[in-house]
Amino acid sequence: MANRITLTQFIIEQQRELPGVSGTFTLLLNDIVTACKKISHLVNRGDLIGVLGSAESENVQGEVQKKLDIITNDIMINALNWTGHLSGMASEEVDDIIKIPGQYPKGKYLALFDPLDGSSNIDVNLTVGTIFSILRCREGVDPTLEDFLQKGSDQVCAGFVLYGPSTMMVLTTGHGVNGFTLDQDIGEFILTHPNMTIPNETCEFAINMSNQRYWEAPVQRYIDECLQGEEGPRGKNFNMRWVASLVAEVYRILTRGGVFLYPFDLRDPAKPAKLRLMYEANPVGFIIEQAGGACSTGRERILDLKPTGLHQRVPVVLGSKSEVERIVEYHKAD
Ligand code: AHG
Ligand code: MN
Ligand code: MN
Repeated sequence: MANRITLTQFIIEQQRELPGVSGTFTLLLNDIVTACKKISHLVNRGDLIGVLGSAESENVQGEVQKKLDIITNDIMINALNWTGHLSGMASEEVDDIIKIPGQYPKGKYLALFDPLDGSSNIDVNLTVGTIFSILRCREGVDPTLEDFLQKGSDQVCAGFVLYGPSTMMVLTTGHGVNGFTLDQDIGEFILTHPNMTIPNETCEFAINMSNQRYWEAPVQRYIDECLQGEEGPRGKNFNMRWVASLVAEVYRILTRGGVFLYPFDLRDPAKPAKLRLMYEANPVGFIIEQAGGACSTGRERILDLKPTGLHQRVPVVLGSKSEVERIVEYHKAD
């Protein structure tokens, strides 16, 4: 235990090996860590400090916000807007891009975040998280929407913090995936899960079965074959999970494999899918690929998509590579 290293040490050492990388990135990551430690504390205190329940307002997606959706959004913005490491931000909970107040210096990165993922779970005391994505920004410019609409493959860094039984940060800078556990006693994230890789063989899927009647044929086929178990074409039994927190599903897949689908569905023609490209699919897709898995819409690689809007929604199929490839094949055959 004594030799375990902190997140800061890990990032500084990783940075030393990469030519041309400055210390600014480490400082930016520390800003995010500070915000997430505050969020972890609030989520943990819960009803003791009156932060649970609905705020009775709606976000840009028309979703009812929880009190903690708003509080965590404010924490992220206030931790990141003054430090001089960013030139702009975007949040799932804010309609437009978030500018850096004029009195503060601007930096060379952009941060995009889902401040509280899985917030429908907050009142039932299940795992929630914060997802973030870091992009480069042209130096010296006041960024416009166009500067944010970069492909997922251009991300510098992506991560999420899981507020579960332990608070954990899972991080990639494009050199594999590492997991850090928050040691509450010393207030530091400690490297506990180096080089996380997704097992390829799996027999576990995650999908919200209540939407089954709206799915397209390829997803119907895949799930039907899983459900047939040993008697079906897959010749083995499958298990199912649905936490309704993307962060928790992704963490499970990083740990023991499996596949997660929030596919295209026909419920509402105005909403072709549920998950958001910029705050959910791209950062999580980067992490999944770096851990040896795959992430697709069913038809295209998520990280190849050219974003068309800040709050764009996309179908997501992610997890163990062979399963994602199988689902993509079923879409091609359709
Ligand atoms: P958020 O709480 O940020 O709005 O995200 C919720 C997302 C995601 O975390 C989860 O996988 C999915 O929505 C659950 O959707 P359903 O409630 O439709 O199952
Ligand atoms: Mn979310
Ligand atoms: Mn959210």
